[in-house]
Order: sequence, then C-alpha cells, then structure tokens
Amino acid sequence: MKVGIIGSGGREHAICQNIKNSSKIDKIFCFPGNAGTKEIAENINLDLNNFEIIKNFILDKNIDLIIIGPEKPLVDGLVDYLEKFKIKVFGPNKIASQLEGSKIFTKQLCQKFKIPTANFGIFENKDKAKEFLKITNYPTVIKADNLASGKGVYICQNEKEGLVAVEEIFNGKFGEAKNLLIEEFLKGEEMSFFTIHDGNIFKSFGTAQDHKRVLEGDMGKNTGGMGAYSPSRLINEDLKNKILNKIIKPTLEGLAELGTKYKGFLYTGLMIVKNEPYLIEYNVRMGDPECQTILPKLKTNLFDIFFSVCEEKLNQINIQWLDKKSVCVVICSKGYPDKFEKNVKIQNLNKIKLDADEFLYHAGTVENNGEIYAVGGRVLNFISLSDNFSTARKNVFRNLEKLNWSGGFYRKDIGYKVIDQK
Ligand code: AMP
Ligand code: GLY
Repeated sequence: MKVGIIGSGGREHAICQNIKNSSKIDKIFCFPGNAGTKEIAENINLDLNNFEIIKNFILDKNIDLIIIGPEKPLVDGLVDYLEKFKIKVFGPNKIASQLEGSKIFTKQLCQKFKIPTANFGIFENKDKAKEFLKITNYPTVIKADNLASGKGVYICQNEKEGLVAVEEIFNGKFGEAKNLLIEEFLKGEEMSFFTIHDGNIFKSFGTAQDHKRVLEGDMGKNTGGMGAYSPSRLINEDLKNKILNKIIKPTLEGLAELGTKYKGFLYTGLMIVKNEPYLIEYNVRMGDPECQTILPKLKTNLFDIFFSVCEEKLNQINIQWLDKKSVCVVICSKGYPDKFEKNVKIQNLNKIKLDADEFLYHAGTVENNGEIYAVGGRVLNFISLSDNFSTARKNVFRNLEKLNWSGGFYRKDIGYKVIDQK
C-alpha cells in the first residue's frame, strides 16, 4: 500500500519511521517532510493550503491512506474535503477539530457538559475585557481564540500585564481576533493524555509531560516543546478513570449532539490539582515532541492501528506497549523561539550510532548534496528508552554531546521532576 503523511516535524518523522516497518507498506510520501523522512519516503512539496492540488496528487499516485500530522489542515477541513473523493484519511473532521481550532467552542462544550475546567469569561471587545481586568484575581490567564501554535496564551501577574495581552490580541498579533478568553489560573501540574478514536470506540495512547518553556527550570518564553518524558509521573488508575469519565466521554457526547464523530488522535492537555483533572486545552493531533517520546514504546504496528481507525475497526486491535521510560530532548537553533539563523550546517550526524533503545528524529532539517542543514527552530529530537528516566536521559545526552553542534542549544533539565539528580 501507499501512504501519505502531511507535516514536516519530528512527529511526522517518528510516524514515518514507525510505519515503514509494516510489510504492507510499499511506499511513503511526505508532504513536505524533512531530511529524516527523505531517507525513508519521497518528500513532496505541494501547496498545503490548496486542497485540490493535494487531492489530485493523491488520486494520481493511488495513495491508499493519508495521515495528517499538524492541526492546521485539520481545522481547515482537509479531512472533510478528501473524504468527499473517497480517500481514506486519519484525522478528525472540521467540526471535531474545533476542539483545538476554537478555545471558546471547547469552553462552551465544557460548560454544557459540566466538564471540569478553569472558570472563564469570553470578551468580544477591548473595553469590556479591560474593565474585567480591574476586578479579577491575579495571576490570570488571557487567551486568543485563534490557532496560535501555543503562543496566544498570557499568564498575567497584574492588571498592567493583562492590558498588554488584551491590546496585543485585539491588535491582531495572532491573526484577526474576534474574541478573547480570560481564565482563572489553575495551580497544579500539567499532563498530556492521549487517546486514539475510530468514531465508535477509543483507546488510550499513553501519557507524557512536555517542557514548553525555552529555559531550564521551565522559565522563559513558550516554544513548540523543548523535550518530554513518558509516562507522566501523575498517572494512576483512579486519575485515568476520572479523565475518561469526566472529560473525554462527555466531550464525545457533545460532538455526537452536533452530529459528528471523532476519528484520529486526541491530545487532552490537563492541569492536575490534587489528583483531580481539569481540562486546559484539546489538540486534535498527537503532540510534538510527545509523539516522538511515546511512539518508540509502541509494540503494535502503527500502520495497522491507523488502518483500523479508518475502517472503524479499532476494537479488533490490541495496542501493546513496552514497559519502559522514555525521554526526548529537542536540540534547537540558537535564538529560538525568537530570530535564528537558517541553513546552518549540522556536522557530526554520521558520528551518532544509535543503540536499539535510542532514536533520532529530524524536525527543521533539509538535505542538500549529502549535507544536512537546520532550517527550523526545533531541529532534531533525541530519544532514549530505559527502565528508568535517569539512564534514558543520560543516554540522550551522550548522543547530544557526540553531535556537539555549535549552531544549537538544548535544555539539560528535561524530566527534572522525575529524575532526582540534575
Ligand atoms: P494552552 O495553549 O491553552 O495549552 O496554554 C498554554 C500553557 O499555558 C499551558 O500549557 C499551561 O502551562 C498554561 N495555562 C493555560 N491555561 C491555564 C490555566 N487556566 N491555569 C494555569 N495555567 C494555564
Ligand atoms: N507539545 C505541545 C503540542 O504539541 O502542542
């Protein structure tokens, strides 16, 4: 069979690497992929905003299954469009993707179905939002309603910071904003909880904790993710049942009321406060770098899982996992998440010899004449599995030290909450 993967990050390289081992796969296309996927698949550069071009390519090459990695094509309705042409697609449709595309859609669903989440108010204009900032408690959380790659969220310590957030959001820093959300600040520990859905049933797909801030000690600006570990240290059977019963099942009921089903990965971003889950956000895809962290533990063939989802036969698959700890550290271009240089050569990649429990996934890289260049903020993901987090992280650092890339930097404290010594 022929498979197409849309996306160019570490998540997509990890998916590509994982499905390539299936005996059912003859060929993989990546749209547009990176230097890592190029070794496994054919990278294709198409205008991903032009659904017709994508559809024509898929039909022309007889691609049997399309996997959509990032949120934008999902929120824009690529699944709905391709399915009209009888193309098999892994990912949720446009209505279901509102769970990520509109924070207000999700908050209203929470309200209707009594899903635990931070108290909130929706503000349609600057003046009303600013009035509210005078009376609210601090810290408070202000969010743009748009897709903002995790950057449209402000944790404000006082009214002054709140005013800056309101101005920036309504002045279009994250695209045209008709609304913003002001939310109660929840004090707890975050956890990412993953499920996979075929429209009828769903199964758990692991837990993780990512480190979004650029600096050690979880300080500094938000990024796409500097590293992650799996499983989350917070998960237990009781908490898992609460997440399923109080959050995920009512959400699916809400979607059913809108006449839609959920198909694909669902990433539930939670704040855990005294073993009680509160929904912070949904993402309608796998996390990045959580995907790179979790997939190396998967024993069941990923292609079989994707295919069963598209056939609505997920009940026939027993998803099995290695009982290991996983740590992923992302090496980024110096300067990220602000300005950074592009087309910086990455030397020494050939010096890295991975053991069976070690993995290297590319993100913002391209290959040119046999050389690899960094072109994105997040460049490479190093992962290691072990019986304990400490050894896993040590092995990751061994590889990063061998790489010794002067153009990059990485956080040395990934997983500090699960590893006693820094
Ligand atoms: P989001 O894009 O909604 O996931 O928010 C980005 C980050 O902001 C989250 O990962 C949390 O660290 C933080 N955050 C968002 N909402 C809240 C909240 N209500 N209370 C505390 N922290 C929050
Ligand atoms: N790791 C955060 C995200 O994928 O949104």
